[in-house]
Amino acid sequence: MKPDISNSEAVVSVEIINGDALESLRGLPGECCDMCVTSPPYFGLRNYDVEGQIGLEESPEEYVEKLVEIFREVRRVLRQDGTLWLNVGDSYATRSGPQPPMNTRNKHGHTAKSVPVGFKQKDLLGIPWMLAFALRADGWYLRQDIIWNKTNCMPESVKDRCTKSHEYIFLLSKSPHYYFDAEAISEPIAGSSTKRYLQNIEAQKGSDRQPGKSNGPMKAALPRFGGEKYGESGKKEFKTKDGGVYVPTLRRNKRDVWNISTAHFDGGHFAVFPEKLALPCILAGSRPGGTVLDPFCGSGTAGVVAVREGRGFIGIEINPEYSEMSERRIKEAAERPKKEKRRRQVEDGQLPGQMEMKFEEDWE
Ligand SMILES: C[S@@+](CC[C@H](N)C(=O)[O-])C[C@H]1O[C@@H](n2cnc3c(N)ncnc32)[C@H](O)[C@@H]1O
Repeated sequence: MKPDISNSEAVVSVEIINGDALESLRGLPGECCDMCVTSPPYFGLRNYDVEGQIGLEESPEEYVEKLVEIFREVRRVLRQDGTLWLNVGDSYATRSGPQPPMNTRNKHGHTAKSVPVGFKQKDLLGIPWMLAFALRADGWYLRQDIIWNKTNCMPESVKDRCTKSHEYIFLLSKSPHYYFDAEAISEPIAGSSTKRYLQNIEAQKGSDRQPGKSNGPMKAALPRFGGEKYGESGKKEFKTKDGGVYVPTLRRNKRDVWNISTAHFDGGHFAVFPEKLALPCILAGSRPGGTVLDPFCGSGTAGVVAVREGRGFIGIEINPEYSEMSERRIKEAAERPKKEKRRRQVEDGQLPGQMEMKFEEDWE
């Protein structure tokens, strides 16, 4: 599919390629994408029932090697200032619980598990970091490990460790300096800081210090910049480090632990990631009108968010059923009135702060 999709703000191009990630990426021109957000199949977890699928390798090493080769092609098709946002989960070398017969899968797509060579039963495999280090060794800049805290994680019946409730999203870049719109994903500051910022400190009397201390009454503290401290300097404004006027804002840089519930999707795909997970990656990693890539696009969640945010999308998916599913979902997302959708998302508490503000402006 290669239609131009109008999402009422911009006309963006969407392409869904039904094929193997490595082969399909090799067919794309260099530097045609702004960013990549993706979630490859996890090691030894699910059987997607398609020849050539990733995830059913004999060993974690073989799995990592295959992904490094694929992400080398991703690096080639990214712009010089492009980023890769890679969601990957871990698993245990274990055979606990009822197992489906070998070479089959249960209703969740789970495959029979065997302990990989070099690991002991019950070992945590450590796949995310194995992959992150291998990608770094291959030339990527490993910039950050973001923790996806699954607020509604699956309960586990384990009694000898804690319940697993997180996954990683690695931020990797092609170059040391890259496009990153921190403001687009900034979040509201804590309530206590808001209260502090809104005080009229000059009008405060301040409380007495310990007996013996002579540096004046103690007033509420606000941030200090360029060596100047509000209250002591007598100036009404703060200075930035380079001498500009510092205006305290009610927003702060996004933190690296993201609290997001897992997605419920009845459309027949086992492992969709939540739209709320793809959204900050796409807003920070691409300009409006830019192109987002997902080489394991599954049901097309990254594409849905991309077109809704006025970005183009290239998705690659090996399973023909899933590529049809993603075409359908992306088309629907592009056709649905954008503002109505956003209003519903904010009302449902699905969208973080900066975006709420932006959307409120949109509706006025
Ligand atoms: C974890 S799912 C991605 C789900 C996606 N993020 C979503 O929200 O729907 C991984 C996808 O990779 C696909 N896949 C597996 N091996 C592949 C390969 N060699 N090339 C392209 N896609 C592949 C699977 O069919 C599956 O849909």
